[in-house]
Amino acid sequence: MATTTIILAAGQGTRMQSSRPKILHKIADKALLEHVVDTSRQLQDNKTVVVYGHGAEQVLQELQHLAVQWIEQEQQLGTGHAVQQAVQFIGDDDTILILYGDVPLLKLATVQGLLQQVGENSLGLLTVDLDDPSGYGRIIRDENGQVIRIVEDKDASPEQKAITEGNTGIIAVNGRRLKNWLARLENDNAQGEYYLTDIIEMAVEDGMTIATAQPDNADEVLGINDRRQLAHIERAYQRQQAEALMSQGVSFRDPQRFDLRGTIKSIGRDVEIDVNVVLSGEISIGSNVKIGANCCITDTVIEDDVEILPNCVIENSFLGAACCIGPFARLRPGARLDRQVKVGNFVEIKKSRVAQGSKINHLSYIGDTLVGSGVNIGAGTITCNYDGVNKHQTIIEDGAFIGSNTQLVAPVTVGKNATIGAGSIITRAAPTEKLTLTRAKQVSVEGWQRPVKQEK
Ligand code: UD1
Ligand code: CA
Repeated sequence: MATTTIILAAGQGTRMQSSRPKILHKIADKALLEHVVDTSRQLQDNKTVVVYGHGAEQVLQELQHLAVQWIEQEQQLGTGHAVQQAVQFIGDDDTILILYGDVPLLKLATVQGLLQQVGENSLGLLTVDLDDPSGYGRIIRDENGQVIRIVEDKDASPEQKAITEGNTGIIAVNGRRLKNWLARLENDNAQGEYYLTDIIEMAVEDGMTIATAQPDNADEVLGINDRRQLAHIERAYQRQQAEALMSQGVSFRDPQRFDLRGTIKSIGRDVEIDVNVVLSGEISIGSNVKIGANCCITDTVIEDDVEILPNCVIENSFLGAACCIGPFARLRPGARLDRQVKVGNFVEIKKSRVAQGSKINHLSYIGDTLVGSGVNIGAGTITCNYDGVNKHQTIIEDGAFIGSNTQLVAPVTVGKNATIGAGSIITRAAPTEKLTLTRAKQVSVEGWQRPVKQEK
């Protein structure tokens, strides 16, 4: 069964109090509209049309890369008018699915369930039972419980307003039927709009059955209208992601204090995640990984048995098996650590490879550097990689020992098993196996006296 999904996304979203169109606001770093498009694109044999309008330029600028057909609705004259704009994409034998661009949590399974209700003589309508249905169109049923029409909140009588079954706006219907009803919509109602919801009454007149389905919970169909709902849905979405990870064998100290703003490409078992961890971009995590509190990790691969202690910021890096990082470490883009590397507190590593078992434990900056295996880099070591114009490379070969407070002025090489004396400024190659140091000789001055305060 071929489907065409029409996503209505032209509305302004006044209550967001924003200069940006509502559908560009984000849940987990992804635009509301993109969440909906991602769901529709998972349907088999589907094409997706987006009806956009408010903030058209901004919408296209930010989301034109989405694989959808864009249709502009220049004036927003109602949901029925919005669907009319897409009429050229409505095939007679297609099933048309109407979604809203500001309802990001709708599940694929719910949509698939609704699509199964559609037939030559039946239409699928997603409804929701609400504690407070105000603002929603109300589902009017006859004495047999059959849906006969939808009444908009603004057009509803007090008795109709008491109905708690609300219209989610999500509908699935045969294309030929839909086109026929769209052509007959009128705007003689309280808002002077072309209501898509009027098709329900027409369908009933045409002898069709309105088959209803409900979502698992109301958040799934919640349309975002203001910042409170945006924050609420962000937490609901994050909770879902944490639940999914827990069912894959991840432990959270507190699943309420976890954020995934991207995708986890793979994750092993027995991963432990402490509070306030934010994972962004594309992340891969092996088994038995521990991530401490307050870590922000972006676009990174973390292999098995890695331990990340609290307060680390890691971006675009690779952490080989059994590495131990932090607390307070910063791995910047291009940090590549082989197995069993130790990076301690207040260490910054950028665009550098550190081979197996090396240690950089305290207060260092390592940039544009190749560090061999079994290297020990003492506290306060700095690679001086930048001359104000160009970046230069430092090479530290296997087994080298860099004394504390050393400055390595790049380009420079420290040979295999070389030792650098503490406090050195290394500007030329330090040979293999030798001790190299640059240090003024220590002197003690005989007969020297501390100055004393003169009595006045
Ligand atoms: C609509 C439904 C209502 C339902 C509610 C659920 C109609 C007439 N009413 O009401 O029954 O309970 O949604 O939230 O359908 N849009 C356009 N172009 C327009 C108008 C709207 O693209 O001209 C888009 C909006 O961007 C939004 C969606 O359609 O994504 C719904 O519009 P909105 O104004 O929120 O509809 P409601 O009046 O809330
Ligand atoms: Ca709405």
